[in-house]
Amino acid sequence: SLERTLAMIKPDGVSGNYSDLIKRIIVEASFNIVKEMLTLLDEQTASAFYLEHSSRTFFPHLVTYMTSGPVLVMVLEKRNAVSDWRGLIGPTDAQKAKISHPHSIRALCGKDLQRNCVHGSDSTSSAEREIKFFFKDVVSGDVASQH
Ligand code: CMP
Repeated sequence: SLERTLAMIKPDGVSGNYSDLIKRIIVEASFNIVKEMLTLLDEQTASAFYLEHSSRTFFPHLVTYMTSGPVLVMVLEKRNAVSDWRGLIGPTDAQKAKISHPHSIRALCGKDLQRNCVHGSDSTSSAEREIKFFFKDVVSGDVASQH
């Protein structure tokens, strides 16, 4: 069904000038970019977004990384948007992505397990939460069932 997901180009992606290339890949893959926002996350916002990882040892590094420069946050829409976007970005570890999924976005612009260039919601419920987190006025989840 028609879905929406949250995509983000992380600080390394934006500063590495990958935004236009990634947006071309997104449009080429038949996603509609419903909303986009270039923003600099502060510590509180980055911590709240990644709340589920707050007990992990890498959490402080993750917050430092995610606040190191602007990010491009997007709401993407298409049929099966959540899993299709996850498929397009590839595995979390960009080093592994370069070997197992060489055409994925993380293989293209990511560096390693942390600096992996892009984010994608991992489920429809995460997508709903994450879209609301950044865009309080946007309809999230299964679009068709809400009209
Ligand atoms: P993402 O899956 O988008 O959201 C959580 C992020 O935490 C992940 O991308 C990486 O940027 C980072 N991350 C996940 N696991 C690790 C790890 N083991 N070490 C460092 N960073 C990590």
